[in-house]
Amino acid sequence: MSDNAIATAAAQISATRASAVVPVVTTFFDEATFTATHVVHDPATLRAAVIDPVLDFDQASGRTSHASADRVIAHVEAHGLTVDWLLETHAHADHLSAAPYLKQRLGGQIVIGAAIRTVQNVFGKVFNEGPAFARDGSQFDLLMDDGHAFRVGEIEAVALHVPGHTPACLAYVIGDAVFVGDTLFMPDYGTARADFPGGDARTLYRSIRRLMALPDETRVFLCHDYKATGRDQFVWETTIGAERTANVHVHEGVSEDEFVAMREARDATLGMPKLILPSIQVNMRAGHLPEPDSNGVRYLRLPVDLL
Ligand SMILES: [Fe+2]
Repeated sequence: MSDNAIATAAAQISATRASAVVPVVTTFFDEATFTATHVVHDPATLRAAVIDPVLDFDQASGRTSHASADRVIAHVEAHGLTVDWLLETHAHADHLSAAPYLKQRLGGQIVIGAAIRTVQNVFGKVFNEGPAFARDGSQFDLLMDDGHAFRVGEIEAVALHVPGHTPACLAYVIGDAVFVGDTLFMPDYGTARADFPGGDARTLYRSIRRLMALPDETRVFLCHDYKATGRDQFVWETTIGAERTANVHVHEGVSEDEFVAMREARDATLGMPKLILPSIQVNMRAGHLPEPDSNGVRYLRLPVDLL
């Protein structure tokens, strides 16, 4: 079966590696949510993309804050970067997005996968949203489908639709680097859960196999790391070759049925992420909080005995 988007991405990766200009990646790791936010820039033009920025949120007090996002802003300003893109790999369930805050401070378009509409429909029902909550993705500046081509400065980029963890997951291939979101973790840790509403282990396996068709030397950047047993450092960068040969859940040779059985058994043992309810309510709105109530205060809802 021909896979044009993967072929395009593979050609782009090889061409980037043969050229003098590869994207510069700087990562900010948030230990509160184990999230890696990446700033990717073209060293020739200093145009940049920020991937999966974190808004700090204290659940107990209901307070948001910006220390994590401000570190990204300081980096962008110190290096004279211009941010064109604020890229979300998916509607995260474990942290709130700082994309609107960064957009206000730095500019850039907020992007997510076109299947966010599916996520908005599913969670619009979970939170019993009224008609004021649009389910057409219009809270975002741009929705990308599989194969959507774009640029970071002069560096070519392409989005890949990699559903499974969520229906709307995108991987962004920028130059010779792929930002895989939660499709893959480090080889020694494995893969992300596929049991959220709209998730599917079989679909995730197929998305991972697509990514593994990219060149072995492709740089892979993750959205999370949790330190595998026996490792005491957070790591968020690996390669397609390392994932293909050594990923403990899904290395070459693990069949689709074996993966699905392992993933579903493991997911059945996992509790909900601590911040899933606030995160999804905010992230399905492109990182915006719900509209204020009549007293001017914004509220987040908590469905009881539903999930
Ligand atoms: Fe996730």
